[in-house]
This record gives sequence, structure tokens and C-alpha cells, in this order.
Amino acid sequence: MENDLSYHVEEAARAEEEVSVLKAYVEDIKRKVSDMVVEANTDNAELNKLITENTKLKHRLAILSIAIAEEQMQSKPTISDSSKMESITDILHQLFHTAICAAFPDITDPPVVIAVAASNPKFGDYQCNSAMPIANIYKQSGKKVTPRNLAQKILDNLPSHPMVEKCEIAGPGFINIFLNRDYAVKKLQAIFQNGVQPPTVERKKIIIDFSSPNIAKEMHVGHLRSTIIGETIARLLEFLNFEVHRINHIGDWGTQFGMLIAHLQDRFPDHLEKMPPISDLQSFYKEAKERFDEDEEFKKRAYDSVVKLQSFEPKHIKAWKLICDVSRKEFQKIYDRLDITLKERGESFYQTRTEKIVKELEEAGFLENDDGRKIMWGDESTTVPFTIVKSDGGFTYDSSDMAAIKHSFANRLQEEKADWVIYVVDSGQATHFQILFACAKKAGILDPKKHRVDFVGFGVVLGEDKKKFKTRSGDSIRLVDLLDKGLEKALDKLKEKGRDKVLTPDELKRAQESVAYGCIKYADLSHNRNHEYIFSFDKMLEDKGNTAVYLLYAFTRIRSIARTANFTPEKIKELSKKENISLEHEKEWKLGKVLLRFPDEILKTLNDLYPHHICEYVYEIATTFTEFYDSCYCVEKDSSGDIVKVNYGRILLAEATAMIMEKCFHILGLKPVEKM
Ligand code: ARG
Repeated sequence: MENDLSYHVEEAARAEEEVSVLKAYVEDIKRKVSDMVVEANTDNAELNKLITENTKLKHRLAILSIAIAEEQMQSKPTISDSSKMESITDILHQLFHTAICAAFPDITDPPVVIAVAASNPKFGDYQCNSAMPIANIYKQSGKKVTPRNLAQKILDNLPSHPMVEKCEIAGPGFINIFLNRDYAVKKLQAIFQNGVQPPTVERKKIIIDFSSPNIAKEMHVGHLRSTIIGETIARLLEFLNFEVHRINHIGDWGTQFGMLIAHLQDRFPDHLEKMPPISDLQSFYKEAKERFDEDEEFKKRAYDSVVKLQSFEPKHIKAWKLICDVSRKEFQKIYDRLDITLKERGESFYQTRTEKIVKELEEAGFLENDDGRKIMWGDESTTVPFTIVKSDGGFTYDSSDMAAIKHSFANRLQEEKADWVIYVVDSGQATHFQILFACAKKAGILDPKKHRVDFVGFGVVLGEDKKKFKTRSGDSIRLVDLLDKGLEKALDKLKEKGRDKVLTPDELKRAQESVAYGCIKYADLSHNRNHEYIFSFDKMLEDKGNTAVYLLYAFTRIRSIARTANFTPEKIKELSKKENISLEHEKEWKLGKVLLRFPDEILKTLNDLYPHHICEYVYEIATTFTEFYDSCYCVEKDSSGDIVKVNYGRILLAEATAMIMEKCFHILGLKPVEKM
């Protein structure tokens, strides 16, 4: 076996070498052909000869590619019994790509279309729908072919793989793909030994900038979305084993601190010795603002304070720190309640770095004088410039973001030097980030060949009146109040269901928190983040439909199935060594296939950073489980309630379902409880 294997590996390597030589040769000929076409006086006979030769070579190349694909599959038996679920779409894509390139060597970049099949099991589990578009390509070049024949040609060239049981051509030329159930059992079974593992991706360093509220201003529902969506994306990336740095780019620097410090000096003259008892920073801010607007002398002192702060005068720095601390404590309370982790790196961190980058931009000639301001233009995609220096010499949100992006991507001394930076900020700031990316590219900080940047925007939160979410008096709603309200409503809901009578006070409290924070997060995450959504406790606490409450209940019920049959997680692990997950019954197979999609759903979300994919997926798991449970007994009891038969394969299927749901819950920040 060992020898066999190394023989195959060597063979594959040799074949690969031959292919690359041939590829280079084909490329060369291609170049020659196109040169000849350009020169109008090409000798036609010569050209035709070359074209024929080119086609022949491509054909030979294709045959070799299939050979390599098959060699590699044989030489890597680990593919099929590896401990990980794999992306089914990726494998099918590879297989069909090989087949299609081999079948149609005369088409460059042929379309490879793979889809999950519709629910009727007759049509297989997945489909390859490439034959139709390929027929179109031929039609355009005047060749008449039928898609069915093309589909047959694809199948003739398809390498074998343990995942694929069989393929059938249907209708005008669809290829229905049937998965092998033993393969599926093996993949799902691996969960019991290794847990739910992520698909393999290339490791990257990622900075994700999210939450980012402003000091001395209350965190409001707008920041709530950034916090929830950012945390979920960070969890997804961490699950995929990326190196993730969660950055809280708080607004902790700027002219508003002048009036806050001046007001602090007046209200609490002893603040340098004694921590000032500011309980409500928002009204403190309001008071300061009122004085600033009405009192000329105060205004002057406020301006002086800004200058002193910006030159790092120690007393002013101390006062500034005190104010930041009060806010920080308030933010932390919210983060603790919602289980959010962040590292603070606010605007103040970039103050000196901003000075540096402004100088660099200036020296490189990127700045333009505009009526006393120094501005920088991005590229043709942007119509507004960045204001890098204000006419009074001060810096702006724009300039500190330039310093921040430089710090992320291009700082040589930086341990976090990132490959990828993600900004989770409301869609109102889309233009700001578009300009930021354009300017960073222009300044050579952001290199699209090496770096990835994403602006993850989101819509506003609306009240039930479909207007911007506000209190009755028109103030923006404070996050703390919202969370408290959530707790109250969640408890009402649990009591309505009589849960207070069966749960211990401790269990009830845990269920209450799980439901309250879970429903707030889930309502946010389950909507396409680009859209606005209506904040309604009544809707999010419904126990039917795609809500956290429904899912948390469904999960608890699934876990209780094994418990009824006296199976602890450890016993299930033992059981899985002797028994296989059962995927025979039509409903078992349907559920199994949904579970096998887990890697694909994760990769899809990684690709576009839309967390609602995971919500839809976990909801599909829950509803498919119900379908299974309605028609398949897991534990059979007699009329007196005694267990007469346990279907072990189904207990295992239920447990695999719970484990995958649990992983999704973790990414979404939902905390399931054993009892609710
Ligand atoms: N503090 C800002 C705000 O509340 C959000 C900051 C987002 N991050 C950034 N790098 N600009 O609008």
C-alpha cells in the first residue's frame, strides 16, 4: 500500500510536470496564433495548421488533467476519510471542472455550474447545469449541438470520487448528481470524535473594526448593530482559525473634549484627587454643551482646553482620561451583558500617527489646498475628497482613518500587520469608506493584490411605526434601557408559557437572559444587513418562524431526545464508535444532507460577510429536523411510558444535528440552555 501510494504520487508529479510543459507550449502557440491573426497578411494554410495543432494539444492536455485528477484522488486516500466535513460544492466544482475542460478543450474558461438540487429526491442531491450554457457558446460560433449530448460528454470525462454515487442526465441536459450515503455517514460520524470542525482556509491576519461608539455620548441602537454584526463576523473568522484582532475604534478625541474638560474643572474642582461622581455622562454632556452655546467666556476656556489637551498637557490629559473612563465603564456593562469582546484603540491612539501620515501625504504631493483646507482626492469612483487638515490646522475623522488604515496594513513595526481589514459601520458612512479605500490605494498603503478590505455596512433600525427608532419623547433609545426591556419581555414570555412553574429560579434566570439577548441579536442578524429592520419585541419573541425563541426551543427539544433515552454526551461518543448515523429513511437522508452543507454555508458567509445566511441555515436545520422527527421514531415507548426500543442511528443523527446547531449558535452569539 505504502509503495503503491508513493508510486501514484510520483506518477502524479511526473504527469503534472508534463502538463506544465505542454501548457507553456500551448501558451506559446496561442501567442503565435494571435500574432498571426493580427498581421493581416497571415498565411492561411499555416494558421490553420497551427490551430489544428493547438486543438490537438489542448485535447492531450485535457486527457492528462483527468489522469492527474484521478491519480491524486487515489494517492490521497485521506480525502475521503479525513476527519473533516468538506465543502461538497467545492469538490463537485473541481470534479466537473476537470470533466468539462477535458470534454471541451476548444472552449476557454468553460462555465461550471453546480447547484443544490430541488427537494424532489428524483432529481438527485446536487446538479451540474453546465451543458446548456456550453451549447449556447457552440451555437454562437455556428456549431449545432444538443445539450444532452454535451452532458453525456461531460459524464464520459468525469473522474470518479467516493462522494459521488452516480449521475444521471435529465430533461434538456441537466446532470443530476447523487451523493454516496456511506461517504455522508462517514463525514457526519467524524463529528463525534473531533467535534464540528471548520473547513480549511488559508490563514490570514484580520483586523475587524466594530462597535466603535463615541465617548461621552450614550451608545445607541445604531452602535448596537455594529456590535452584534461585528461580534458574529469575528466569531466566524475565529472559528475558521484566522488570527483575528477585534478593534474598538471609539471616538475619544476631538473638540468636544474642550468643553467637557472645562465643565469638569468647574463642577468638580477636586477631580484630579477624587474620582468625580458622574453617573450620567449624557446629561453632563448636555450641560457642557448648553454653557458652550450661551457663555462666551466658557467657550473661550473650552477652546483653550482643546489646545492644551492636544499638546498633551498632563492635567488636561488626566481630566480627559477621567471622562473616558466613565464612558468606558458604561460601554463595558453592555459588552458584558451581550458577551462581546473588543480591544480599544480609539481616535486618540492615532493622534501622533496622524501627524506623521499627514506629513507623508503632503510630501508625496497628494494634498491640495482648497480654501485653506488640505484635501486629498481618491479615484474616479469617488466624487468627494477627504479633508486631511482643516483650515484651523486640526485633524478630522478622515485623517485619523488614514492613519488607522496605514497602521493596519503598512506599519512595519506592527505586530498586527494585517492581510485583511473589515469595517462594520452603518451604511450612512459608505462614502467615507469608499474614499478611504481609494485614497489608501493611491497612497500605496492598500495594495489590492495583497490586501483585502471590506466595508460591512448595515441599514437603520426602525420603530414599529416604521420611523427611526426613538423614545416617545423623541430621544434616541439608550441601549441599557433596551436590554432591560428585553429581559422584562422575555420573562413575561416564559411565564406565559408556564415555565416559571417548572424551572428553578436559577434556570429561569438563565433562560430569561438567553431569550432576551438571543432574540435581540438574532432579530438583527437574521435580516439582510443592508436592509433596515423594524425593532419589535413582540415579533422577535414569537415562538414560531425564524426567531431565536423558536430555535432555542427546538435545540432544547433535540437535546432532550437523547436525555430521555439516558444518553449523556460521553455515552453518545462511545455509542458512535459502535453504531452509525442512520441515513436510510428519506427524511433521515434529507436531514443528513442539510447537515453536510455546513462547510458550504460557512464559506459562503466568509465570502460575502452576510450573517443572515447562517440564520437561514440553522432555521432550515431546525425545520428539517422537525420533519424527520415527525416521521421517524428515535425512542419508542409503550402505553405506560416505558422505553421499549431505542433507534441508535437516529439518536446519533439527532446529536449531530444538535452539535451543528450549537456551532451556529455560538457564531451568532446565542447561548442555548439545557432547560427552558
Ligand atoms: N465612532 C464612529 C461613529 O460612531 C465609528 C467609527 C468606525 N470606525 C472607523 N474606523 N471609522 O460614527
